[in-house]
Amino acid sequence: MELLKIENLCKTYGKGENEVRALDDISFIVPKGQMAAIIGPSGSGKSTLLHILGGVDRPTSGKVFLDGQDVYKQNNHNLAVFRRRQVGLIYQFYNLIPVLNAEENITLPMIMDGRTPKLEQLYDMLKMLDLVERRHHLPSQLSGGQQQRVSIGRALFNSPGVILADEPTGNLDSKNSAEIIALLRKSNREMDQTMLIITHDENIALQCDRIITLSDGKIVSDKLTGQSGMLDDRRQDDV
Ligand SMILES: Nc1ncnc2c1ncn2[C@@H]1O[C@H](COP(=O)(O)OP(=O)(O)O)[C@@H](O)[C@H]1O
Ligand SMILES: [Mg+2]
Repeated sequence: MELLKIENLCKTYGKGENEVRALDDISFIVPKGQMAAIIGPSGSGKSTLLHILGGVDRPTSGKVFLDGQDVYKQNNHNLAVFRRRQVGLIYQFYNLIPVLNAEENITLPMIMDGRTPKLEQLYDMLKMLDLVERRHHLPSQLSGGQQQRVSIGRALFNSPGVILADEPTGNLDSKNSAEIIALLRKSNREMDQTMLIITHDENIALQCDRIITLSDGKIVSDKLTGQSGMLDDRRQDDV
């Protein structure tokens, strides 16, 4: 089933001589449960693409469908609700609220959406993130890897349709990077979570099901890695 459908997406910044074509007619489909890496040189449009998929930045032209819904056909109010419920964003520098502790950061999007977090669900999430002992710590009292685990929890806790991560391991050493990717892989497999991950790290890209390469705002390569085989095995077990 296609979860995300991107049709002829274009984004230009500036006007006249200063015009930059950040995205130049991009189309692709992401099936539910796929974990895809987006790679490409700096300035190739990766972050712009992720922001548009996440409802953060409007396209100049083209369409984005999530679960069959035309994302940019919605009014601003519904687009804000879409962003809160359907998208989990993970950034390189975590973007945690400094005065909130780990569990408050994780539950914040749900509370802002007017819903009450279930304590059992919160505990399960903290356990998966290996943060039970640290749940009352402020971001400043946590290591980089722990802070990124909090931000992953915040992104996952709402069970959004899609997780979008912009260089989630860009600020971490190799051990912490490996842990973060393992964690994303685990939630991808266990919760059938669809993910798009921007990375500069070839090893990380190779752990994903698919690698999409951008250059100058265009897709120049789009390949399956063979990792998706495990996904197929599990699907067969399900039948
Ligand atoms: N807000 C903006 N205003 C003007 N130009 C921008 C803006 N955001 C990005 N760009 C330009 O769009 C292009 C793509 O940027 P970006 O999506 O950040 O690339 P990447 O994430 O691959 O490094 C670059 O040329 C960048 O300078
Ligand atoms: Mg970027």
